Order: sequence, then C-alpha cells, then structure tokens
Amino acid sequence: MSSPEIAACTHPLRTSVADFIAGLRELERDLITKDRIAAYMGATTLRPEALHDYTWWRDSFYTRNLIYRDDLFEVMTICWSPGQKTAIHTHNGQLGWMTVSQGEVLTHEYHHTHCNAPENQNVVNIDCLGGATELEIDKVRTINCAEGTGMVTVDKLQTIHQIENAGTTGCISLHVYSKPFDSCIAFDLEKQRCYRRQLSYFSKDGHRLER
Ligand SMILES: [Fe+2]
Repeated sequence: MSSPEIAACTHPLRTSVADFIAGLRELERDLITKDRIAAYMGATTLRPEALHDYTWWRDSFYTRNLIYRDDLFEVMTICWSPGQKTAIHTHNGQLGWMTVSQGEVLTHEYHHTHCNAPENQNVVNIDCLGGATELEIDKVRTINCAEGTGMVTVDKLQTIHQIENAGTTGCISLHVYSKPFDSCIAFDLEKQRCYRRQLSYFSKDGHRLER
C-alpha cells in the first residue's frame, strides 16, 4: 500500500512523461529520500509508447536521453541494444533509481575493497581524482530488472555497479538521479586503473544532439 502522499502523485491513467515529472516536482517539496522516490517510481508505470520521444538507438554504444533536469533531479531513459553495457562506475553516494520499461537488464553490484590511491577520494564535490594503478573491486551480486518488475537503486552504501543488456532485444530503462552529476569515476579491472569519465546525452528533450 503506498502512502497517501505517493497516492496523490500517481494515478493508473496518468502515465505520461509530463505527469511523471509533475509528480516528481511535487516530491521535491519535502526531503528526497531513497524510499520516497522508490515508492513513487514503483507506483508509476511508463510504457515504452509514453517514452517514444526519448527512445534512440545506436549500434556503437547505449544512449542517454535527457527528459528533465533541475537542481535536485535528473531524469533520463537509457536505450540498450543487445550486448551494450556500462563500464563499472561509481555514483559517489548519489541517490539513483532505475526501472525497466522494455526488455530486461542486469545490474552487477560491486564494493570497493582496496586501491593504491585512497587519498584521491578526499576531494570536495567529486567522488575521486582517479589515478589508482592497483584496484580491488569485488562483485557483490547481480540483479535482474525486467519490464514492469524490479527496481535498481544506488545510495551511499551501494554506489558502484555495472549495467548490461545481456539479452537479444533492445531494452529501455528509466533513470532518476539526485542530485545530477556530469562525470563519474569508472574502473578498468583488466588494466588496473580508475579514471574520470565525462557523461553526455545522446538526445535532450526529445531532440538528438549528436550526429
Ligand atoms: Fe550507474
């Protein structure tokens, strides 16, 4: 049973992107916590048709498609062709929520155990300067998230993961982050290094940015 507050923001027939964003903005009036936004996302289903303007595919890499951004929230779809996946990366304690509107994606969760540049993590506003040349990142578990079922979150305790489409069809996932950020540290376990990756959008407000 959802809370009266969440129920006020959701309705089975109100499943457009505009309604979803309006509900999120209502929730901004109080504290943004993992549970509040998870309850809202769990109660709101956005069908692939509703996400049509934010669905873009590319053979070479998954696409990040911005739907909405303000000081507290960033909302996007990510479209995954078969076999596409992220690097292992950290969200630096950022809160994040993901549901799947089409297909099925795997999330591999990791814990940072050791690196040889821990002093680089003590930086204001960003997670780390990177630059480690020895890394120990251990896989904790893999979560399967499919259309209409399951939700993956990140928070201060579980902040490192990798997402992949291991299936044979295209997947569309819906992501909310608080607060937005524009770069993150990625981990290359084979080369034993971590590095900062700039994040970009493939499309914004339904318009393609890249050629
Ligand atoms: Fe992520």
